[in-house]
Amino acid sequence: MKLYMRQTPLSDRLARERCARKASALFRQTAPCEEVSIDLSTNSYLSLHDNTHVHAAAHKLIDGQLSGNLASRIISTGTALYARLESALAQWKQTETALVFNSGYAANVGMIQALANRSTDIFCDRLNHASIYDGIRLCGARLHRYRHCDVNDLRKRVQTSSSPEKIIVTDSVFSMDGDCAPLADICDVARAHDALVMVDEAHATGIFGMRHSGWVEACGVEEAIDIRMGTLSKAVAGLGGFFSGSFLLRDHFVNHARSLIYSTALPHSVLAFDLAAIDYIRSHVGIQAKLLAKAQHFRQLLTDAGFDTLNSTTQIIPCLIGDDARTLHLSRHLRKHGIKAPAVRPPTVPKGTSRLRFSIHANVDEEHLRRVVSILKSEIAGQSPKCSR
Ligand SMILES: Cc1ncc(COP(=O)(O)O)c(C=O)c1O
Repeated sequence: MKLYMRQTPLSDRLARERCARKASALFRQTAPCEEVSIDLSTNSYLSLHDNTHVHAAAHKLIDGQLSGNLASRIISTGTALYARLESALAQWKQTETALVFNSGYAANVGMIQALANRSTDIFCDRLNHASIYDGIRLCGARLHRYRHCDVNDLRKRVQTSSSPEKIIVTDSVFSMDGDCAPLADICDVARAHDALVMVDEAHATGIFGMRHSGWVEACGVEEAIDIRMGTLSKAVAGLGGFFSGSFLLRDHFVNHARSLIYSTALPHSVLAFDLAAIDYIRSHVGIQAKLLAKAQHFRQLLTDAGFDTLNSTTQIIPCLIGDDARTLHLSRHLRKHGIKAPAVRPPTVPKGTSRLRFSIHANVDEEHLRRVVSILKSEIAGQSPKCSR
């Protein structure tokens, strides 16, 4: 027997909102399970999700124990794999310690909620990830959004703050634009005004720096960053989010971060995969340089074809279309040719900046990328004026 939702004033509102969304080009659906020949939607930048060496090493680590950790980390017996993973992360990031959360989303929300209160001023890049904004909402801190990557705007706003407690928070690689935060300049502002700095390295971990620990390392500002947040769900291709930094902050999060305290810990299989993938990344040099060169080549192909890739310099390459419906049309058109590239539309990106978001990864080759640009070019050329860029 199927159970339907009862009709109430609330369900009526939901139905109206659904109808309005469906009429626009903004309706979201979970992606179906389908075979694609070229997948440019994945954040598994190093393609470690199907790397046989990582799989074998993870199997060895779990020794047959797939699940486990069936309560919160505060309640249940700890597993040796958590300690090993946190120690590997602290070593990689060269920080005192680390703390693993269940996801990057949980890490951002939990850490910000635990750190700030109504009298804290938080300065946040306009294009920071939604999880950062959600954490700020949860703690009730005063939010100051500064223009994207604009240090002068940030400085002006910090200068006018009278709160003794200030936090500057930024993504290091921006997830929808593929550009990088000016971390050295941000750290100068923080130093001058006694602000704490938090950097979200979700898309930089495993890619940038000599040790590939992230953009913080590449910029040489490790000592000026108080909170280095990262995810294990992108280049590491596993699951989990993490903090790396001081013992003081780790203890604070263990005691106050609600997303850590009130949620069941990760299973062994996941921790083992994370550990095996980090080990693989740390022992294989050169894969990142190849990835970034391939991304640069693709950016050039798009630019030569007349597309705008914004200020992307990384493995994330937006292709700005502008109009929501046109973006959706192009994404569907690519899909018909076996190519997966998501149409990213508001509210994920600002109005009028809908785009195709391409993620370059180890498993795509230059032939694939040339094919994508050629299909896009011919579709644009064949469209009616309304459907062209
Ligand atoms: C910049 C940024 N931070 C945090 C997250 C959340 O990470 P996770 O997917 O591990 O929850 C994402 C995920 O898309 C992200 O792009």
